[in-house]
Amino acid sequence: MAIANSEDGAVEQHDDLTIRLDAGGWGWTWSADDDGRLHQVGLGPSGADAALDVDAIWYPDAHPTWGGPDPVRPPALRITHADGTTTTRLRLHGVERESGPDNDDEIVRIVTTDEVFAFRAKFCARTHRASGVLEQWIEVDHEEDGPVTLWDYDSIAPAFLIGPEARVTQFGGAGWADEWAWTTEQLTPGTKVLDSLGGVQPHLQRSPVLMIEPNGPADEASGEVIGCSILWGGNTRFAADVRPRSGEQARDLRLRVGANPLGAHYVLDPGRTFTSPVVAWTWANGRQELTDRFHAWTRARVLRDPDRTRPIVANNWESTFFDFDEQRIVGLIDRAADVGADLFLLDDGWFGTSSPRDDDDAGLGDWEPDRRKLPGGLAPLIDAAVDRGIRFGIWVEPEMVNPDSDLFREHPDWVIRDRREPREHRNQFALDPLVDEVRDFEVAVFDRVLAGASGTSYVKWDANRPVTDPGSRALRNDRQSNSWVDWVHATWEVMERVAAAHPDVELMLCASGGGRTDHGTLRWFHEFWTSDNTDPVTRVRMQWSCGHWFPASAMAAHVTAWGGRPLPFACAVALSGRFGFDLDLAALDEADTAVCSRSVAVARRTQDLVQHGRLRRLVSPVADGDRSRAALAYIDPASDRAVVFCYQIEDSAAPPPDLLIDGLDDATNYDVTITDLTTNPRPVGRLSGAELGDGALVWDLTRATTAQVIEVSAARVVHRT
Ligand code: DGJ
Repeated sequence: MAIANSEDGAVEQHDDLTIRLDAGGWGWTWSADDDGRLHQVGLGPSGADAALDVDAIWYPDAHPTWGGPDPVRPPALRITHADGTTTTRLRLHGVERESGPDNDDEIVRIVTTDEVFAFRAKFCARTHRASGVLEQWIEVDHEEDGPVTLWDYDSIAPAFLIGPEARVTQFGGAGWADEWAWTTEQLTPGTKVLDSLGGVQPHLQRSPVLMIEPNGPADEASGEVIGCSILWGGNTRFAADVRPRSGEQARDLRLRVGANPLGAHYVLDPGRTFTSPVVAWTWANGRQELTDRFHAWTRARVLRDPDRTRPIVANNWESTFFDFDEQRIVGLIDRAADVGADLFLLDDGWFGTSSPRDDDDAGLGDWEPDRRKLPGGLAPLIDAAVDRGIRFGIWVEPEMVNPDSDLFREHPDWVIRDRREPREHRNQFALDPLVDEVRDFEVAVFDRVLAGASGTSYVKWDANRPVTDPGSRALRNDRQSNSWVDWVHATWEVMERVAAAHPDVELMLCASGGGRTDHGTLRWFHEFWTSDNTDPVTRVRMQWSCGHWFPASAMAAHVTAWGGRPLPFACAVALSGRFGFDLDLAALDEADTAVCSRSVAVARRTQDLVQHGRLRRLVSPVADGDRSRAALAYIDPASDRAVVFCYQIEDSAAPPPDLLIDGLDDATNYDVTITDLTTNPRPVGRLSGAELGDGALVWDLTRATTAQVIEVSAARVVHRT
């Protein structure tokens, strides 16, 4: 379709001016007014069926532009046109609908053009009705006489009424090792901006997900909850603009969601298309439904090999850091096999020849084994793993370079920088993925490392610094601000190429912990490193938050010594995620080794439930009031089996909570076992689903940092071994 505008009289008015989108359990309706301007007529659970009670013009703008009908509210799309004009007024031009990738799904593009300029914006949506999560984004192109500049380019901008008690929940804290901190606050008049910066690992500051309870506090089972996730491996922004309504308690909220445009205005040449990040969102009844929807959609549309049960990983990072040699690693591989792990993961520090990687200040970029530490290279380690019947995995950080490295000495011009001297962060620079040779190099890192480590079937992909000096020599001087957006696409291209070239290699996504945990980047990975903070006390709450959005199969959770907590408690916390160890297994005494082996046995019996079952949250560690305890369950789809994790996080004077294990079949009898991991599970009898749902098991923990793992199996089900 050529771009047409009213000046040449070629605007193709759409016959039916009302566009409905059924997202699966909720949706929206847009309608064009007599001038072709789009308004949001309906949104929410019955939004796709909304009737036009009055002319469309009386409804809010569907996606406000600067210079549009509402001059006193912030726009979601703000452009400077080629001739310097700063306003944009869009009219409906047509609607394109095609079938989506799954049965019953569709992709809709609502095409608009500017009244005056040869400028086009498409408002795009892809349904996933099976889950009720809707993906939306915008596409912009033009045929103006020169480049246009995009200053704001939000992916969605819904408007809705909220009550006086409306709340917003964000996830993120102080940065490194403080991911997924839960903060709920009331939405009051004004604009609340929740954003992130830093380019490579922005989600360390704030995860790109947001929850809004428009009518005040919701709970697991009821109350409206809107959940949004920005699929963007870069800086993100949520902006909630709340305005009072005269004489009413209700307020107007305009929510703008997308890439963070700060410093990232995009200069778009004629004939090129700008595509915003996808925002995936849903309008649920209760937090359980929000999670059910996001988990189903993540499995269907995001995760690689979603049905493959993830391995029990033993990593060496926390036990050795950079200080190891072949003998030490072979010893750890042996111990990993002894406790029953599936895979040994060799972390940072195995490479560097002329600049050995003895610390984080050298070697990054030189992906050859350090022969001082590993005289036989990686082969003897892989042989040791194979001999013991476990898999081998390896750590790489392909996008980074230490100044003290052969790579930097050969290619000092490959790093991200502006015109100043680049600044080091963790003694390293980030490579510029907009340079073609850099992308090829990054892809080749995997080819080279995997070729030299034949038999390796798992790679942890790390990235340990933010962008501090934005700029790219691959971009013209007047396009430098495009780098923030272009880097994400270039990095994703590298990830896509790596995943395609090594389809059988499992990939873990890591960036100084969870600095890249978003549903966009995750598409090329099997799992992510949730946080470097592995203190189980913190982890209960982090995993609680993260689990609202991501299934446990993706959420790596390793037992470490962080926080000095009792080992059974640390194991119980890790067992509710993708279980693994990052402990010096060779230094454990007999009792602790037994705890680890017992935990592996629990993982073997329960990991299919944890990774593929339905998450039910029973006792919240983040709710207002008592935050001292947590309990959650995973239940198989047939309600035959469940595993319940109970955590006494802190001492508490509050009365013990009811342990209502609902979601089982009321009429079925279940065999129940309980363990605190200091002993093997002990049978506690047979209870019906109705009894378990009614509190037949009581909270039985009193001391801080203790836990119980409760396994429940329908009496006819044979235990897995
Ligand atoms: C940061 C990661 O989060 C850690 O697990 C570890 O891999 C280090 N990087 C290694 O440098």
